[in-house]
Amino acid sequence: MTSTLHTNILGIDFENPFLLASAPPTALVESIDKAFGMGWGGAVLKTITPDDLEMNEASPRYAVLTDKKRIIGFQNIELLSHQTIKYWCEGIKYLKHKHPSKIIIASIMSPVDKTAWQTLVKTLNDTPADAFELNFSCPHGMPEKGIGMAIGTDAEVSAQITGWVKEVAQKPVFVKLSPNVTNIAAIGQAVEKAGADGLAAINTVQGFMGIDLNTLRPVLNVNRKTTFGGCSGPIVRPIGLRCVAQLRQTSKLPILGQGGISTWEDAAQYIAAGADAVQICTEVMLNGYKIIGPLLKGLHDYLDAKGFADINALKNKAVELLTTHKALQKTPPS
Ligand SMILES: Cc1cc2nc3c(=O)[nH]c(=O)nc-3n(C[C@H](O)[C@H](O)[C@H](O)COP(=O)(O)O)c2cc1C
Repeated sequence: MTSTLHTNILGIDFENPFLLASAPPTALVESIDKAFGMGWGGAVLKTITPDDLEMNEASPRYAVLTDKKRIIGFQNIELLSHQTIKYWCEGIKYLKHKHPSKIIIASIMSPVDKTAWQTLVKTLNDTPADAFELNFSCPHGMPEKGIGMAIGTDAEVSAQITGWVKEVAQKPVFVKLSPNVTNIAAIGQAVEKAGADGLAAINTVQGFMGIDLNTLRPVLNVNRKTTFGGCSGPIVRPIGLRCVAQLRQTSKLPILGQGGISTWEDAAQYIAAGADAVQICTEVMLNGYKIIGPLLKGLHDYLDAKGFADINALKNKAVELLTTHKALQKTPPS
């Protein structure tokens, strides 16, 4: 039997489950064009905001955590897309015309204002994007303006905005959740009740990357000062897997899993933890779009070796094994 990487989520046909996450690899139309040509199944656009929302970047805005010279973690204090809404409307049309089988998800964020959210959604309704992803989860910069993670850590506000978007959206709506909460499943339940069609997790984990003991400056500093940033890459994978599994335990909605995926094995683990497709950012920033070749081959060969027809046969396999600590203590030794 030969397996297929094709999968269908909410009636949308994905030629494979590997999507570029909303981040620098999806900040420009020409980069996404190139990535699609190399085999990526889709892209979540760098988060689009109303044109009048100020985007003052700090620089430098990236740092890495290494172990024996291998990069095991990444931290950023980057903000959102610097391109206009018009740029993205034209870009989405161009990309869909050239790559009709690829999935384009428009990530959006707006101030907590019904008209602002609905105007953004209505404008993007008229593009051939396949779905929306609501960014309720950026942990730096935006929370100071009352948005990003400030939304995603508040179940009531998350539900309210999801409701506003669902009133006008003509495409499925995924909500991208923050891991920086005590109970991600509670936020997932709130947005599901408000009408979300799917969930995405995780955005970056808020962190403090480190301190240089010679200079006593933070590793990531702007003129010596720093702010807490968003961590990604391999160091956050156990947190991402836990969040996706917790969401899957409480919801049947499709989940776009992400956080620290570098290899096909990492992706397969996310699917076993309940994800319907996966998104990748940091590994692409470190090693380029070409990583898609080994990801596709590795997952395909694995499904074949296991005798699985598609990723649905792998989905949730690990969730079925999750139980309470109390129940573990009752398990007889094997
Ligand atoms: C430099 C950088 C910029 C990012 N920008 C966005 C963004 O604009 N919108 C968003 O939803 N997530 C953003 N993210 C988060 C990623 O989409 C992703 O959720 C996170 O990095 C975890 O995945 P990874 O470990 O594969 O990087 C950004 C991440 C990084 C590293």
